[in-house]
Amino acid sequence: MAPVGPVDGELRRRAAVALPAGVYGHVKAGERWPGSPQFVARAAGSRFWDVDGREYLDLLCSWGPIILGHRHPEVEEAVAAQHALVDCGNGPAPAMVDLAERLVGIVDHADWAMFAKNGSDATTLCLTLARAATGRKTILVAAGAYHGAPPWCTPEPVGVVPGDRAHLSYYRYNDLESVRAAMAAAPDDVAGIIVSPFRHDAGFDQELPDPAFARGLRELCDATGALLILDDVRCGLRIAFGGSWEPLGVAPDLSAWSKAIANGYPLAAVLGSERVRAVAAAVFATGSFWFAADAMAASLATLAVLEREGGVAAMRDWGRRFRDGVEATAAAKGLEINMTGEVTMPYLSFPGDEDRALADVFAAACADGGLFVHPRHNWFVSAALDDADLDLALSAVGAGFEAVATVSARA
Ligand SMILES: Cc1ncc(COP(=O)(O)O)c(C=O)c1O
Repeated sequence: MAPVGPVDGELRRRAAVALPAGVYGHVKAGERWPGSPQFVARAAGSRFWDVDGREYLDLLCSWGPIILGHRHPEVEEAVAAQHALVDCGNGPAPAMVDLAERLVGIVDHADWAMFAKNGSDATTLCLTLARAATGRKTILVAAGAYHGAPPWCTPEPVGVVPGDRAHLSYYRYNDLESVRAAMAAAPDDVAGIIVSPFRHDAGFDQELPDPAFARGLRELCDATGALLILDDVRCGLRIAFGGSWEPLGVAPDLSAWSKAIANGYPLAAVLGSERVRAVAAAVFATGSFWFAADAMAASLATLAVLEREGGVAAMRDWGRRFRDGVEATAAAKGLEINMTGEVTMPYLSFPGDEDRALADVFAAACADGGLFVHPRHNWFVSAALDDADLDLALSAVGAGFEAVATVSARA
């Protein structure tokens, strides 16, 4: 396994002094796996380069935001053109109206759009809107689901007090009975149910939604007056060119978006139905940078390229061929694996690898072979990937499996 390069090592040493824990959050130093660089020097298309000059094929896509490839020329041109006019102004640029109309046109359930910066802004705003629309307090959340880092949902509740999580109740994904039980525990008080398009909890094999579960949530909301909130922050635009539950025929009342909608530029959106419009107008939702135009221009360009080039179908095709190739490679080596999740957002695990030690070995060997994958989080396919990238990815995966087989044989 290649050691961390000297420049990365030096930056880590400086970061350990100047930053808490030497880089925090989901990219924090302590969560890097052996052989994984901490710092990134540059990126283009399907590749990025670490600060020591090593090149990687990117299957993490900056945890999802990069959907067309890094610094896609059409997106960069749109941003430069907008930036030459205004980005952070005293009021929004016309791009805000253009983008709201575009998203309402693309996403079936949406009648209006609001914008923010991060996925956490969008999911949190959805909860506020559901409470405002219903006059109720309780929100049902799938146990273990990630909806962002604010106190109501951070997975590491340091500094969180019980009041931050008041009026939340938990159910199990794909288990309607547990939803009914949570509803019964808060009679007449459920404002909304928040749910992700599939169960993509980090560190666990992923679970696709049972269509009966998705339909059942809609029916329960209709029966009780609660709002159905789809957290499309991670999946948005990687399952469908529209809402991720459109293929299932299940329409939420609200959906939260971010990550891929602007190909890496900071933007989030809440999309809502007519029923929620009046409270959406009444809630004081804002931020100094929420109306900045560059990211909105980036989003308009991202949507244009994705639609024109059939990006979602292309990603699904690449993802399907990649999954088939990974499974065939594992079978040829007699290695048992689980590959779960959507084909555009796959997750790989090794049965019995509870502490993820084999996953670390695998990810490190992949990095050595020039492929960047995460050992404990789903990966992301981008529309920049081509056939040559597929060959490279499968060859690196083969090296990863060799490394896992060697370590397993020693144990
Ligand atoms: C499903 C989901 N919801 C919400 C969020 C929060 O988004 P952000 O990190 O932009 O605040 C994430 C981030 O990974 C996510 O995956």
